[in-house]
Amino acid sequence: MKKKVFSGIQPSGQLHIGNYLGAIKNWIHLQNDYEAIFCIVDLHAITVPQDPEELKKRVLEIAKIYLASGINPEKSTIFVQSQIQEHTELAWILNTLAKISEMERMTQFKDKSQKKGQENSSVGLFDYPVLMASDILLYNTDLVPVGEDQLQHIELARTLARRFNKKFGNTFILPQPSLQKNGTRIMGLDNPLKKMSKSSSSEYNYISLLDSAEIVQKKIRKAVTDSGSKIVYSTEKPALKNLINIYSLFSEKTTQEIEIEYQDRGYAEFKNDLAQIIIEFLTDFQKKFQAISDEEVIKILKQGAQKAFPLAKEKMKEVKEKMGLSF
Ligand code: AMP
Ligand code: TRP
Repeated sequence: MKKKVFSGIQPSGQLHIGNYLGAIKNWIHLQNDYEAIFCIVDLHAITVPQDPEELKKRVLEIAKIYLASGINPEKSTIFVQSQIQEHTELAWILNTLAKISEMERMTQFKDKSQKKGQENSSVGLFDYPVLMASDILLYNTDLVPVGEDQLQHIELARTLARRFNKKFGNTFILPQPSLQKNGTRIMGLDNPLKKMSKSSSSEYNYISLLDSAEIVQKKIRKAVTDSGSKIVYSTEKPALKNLINIYSLFSEKTTQEIEIEYQDRGYAEFKNDLAQIIIEFLTDFQKKFQAISDEEVIKILKQGAQKAFPLAKEKMKEVKEKMGLSF
């Protein structure tokens, strides 16, 4: 039997090249060897305020991004989290096993609650990792391809699975994370010490997958660089290291090959070429994205939910029986 892969992205804000290089690109390969489910996690998105119309639009946009990136609905299941109620049902059950002290250690909550302060953040934001654990555990997932920032959440999913199994008998598979080399952490173009993020206040932080060629050129031109003028890949030059990483991931050249290629050339030329490489990728990507209609994508999402639902239903039945929640 094929092993199972599950991953998801929130429909909040513009997806950027960090999401693509750190997560989605990895999924394309995995779908050939695994039984893959790729979810659009709208219930995670609403842990911070969302405009309903905007949210609806973003869900379809993310589904189109999955498809344009090369996720094949004939091979993989694509669906929207809120369409399958078992996700929230299992999350409640796992809530009864998760400890407050464990949740308080989650660094993403600490980061995301900073804006409003922890006292004013929603309980949903605090509980976010438990809902994520339920997404993963519901489908007997073996492998979770994500960026490095999600490792702590996967560790929690493993802890909760272990705890449940110990208490109620073997029910959940312990999932493993799968990280993409180099792409695991694409940093902000305006600040190489913080990861590229769709919730960043400056649009010069990221390159959206839907940015035009002119915007890409402008953003790369404005991207911060380190002092000096040589193209070297080193932790002492985090801004340049990040740009070389991006170059490498889009061109399939190694970072060493890039260093050699630009040995006697300056930042300007390097940045110019980098912009061109990104634009080439995005032009092709956006052509595919534009070609998918809303109707088509809605149909795929409905079919995906129909495929995922029986799996979720069966797992929930097992969970409830084991816990004495059935008669
Ligand atoms: P998010 O944008 O937080 O919903 O993340 C969606 C997926 O993209 C997750 O698997 C993240 O780990 C990944 N991701 C987000 N930002 C980055 C980044 N700057 N570099 C690499 N991967 C990222
Ligand atoms: N928390 C993940 C993120 O922000 C998104 C997510 C929700 C997810 N549920 C998941 C990722 C299940 C992998 C598996 O990136």
